[in-house]
Amino acid sequence: MYSLIYRSVANDSFDLPQIYSMLGDSNEYNAEHGITGCLLYHRNQFLQLLEGEKNEVQKLFNKISKDDRHHEVQEIEKEYSTKRLFNKWSMAFYDYGQNELSAQLKMGQIDSFFNTSNVFHHKSDLVLPFFSTVREILFPR
Ligand SMILES: Cc1cc2nc3c(=O)[nH]c(=O)nc-3n(C[C@H](O)[C@H](O)[C@H](O)COP(=O)(O)O)c2cc1C
Repeated sequence: MYSLIYRSVANDSFDLPQIYSMLGDSNEYNAEHGITGCLLYHRNQFLQLLEGEKNEVQKLFNKISKDDRHHEVQEIEKEYSTKRLFNKWSMAFYDYGQNELSAQLKMGQIDSFFNTSNVFHHKSDLVLPFFSTVREILFPR
């Protein structure tokens, strides 16, 4: 098992309907290739965790890094790990644009976590634990 995390900046023209459509294709590809993970969309930036066999994760990341719908693709962390964090999701996705109260609460929690751990800016040992927290907040068991 291998995990890779990167961040990137969405192009202005890459709007939510297009992101959802991209996710439809992604879920199919990921399911076929044993990839799971989580894509966060936050203030026009993406933070994505990819989990799977090393060669599959690398192959997908190569494609993603060449995708011209986003830019400033920056790898934050990659490492072997013993288990998947998002074993039930081909690609969990959360956008903060929803107006319901629970979404706002979740956004507040994740916002403060982003600010303290600074995950978008540095290579960080905190980033995998960060996704673990994200999973607990967004998808409580
Ligand atoms: C932010 C972002 C995340 C993406 N995540 C995935 C993903 O998890 N799985 C996937 O198959 N494609 C993902 N893509 C799309 C790929 O970049 C690429 O378009 C897709 O793999 C098809 O590539 P191909 O036409 O070369 O086969 C993502 C693209 C972006 C911009």
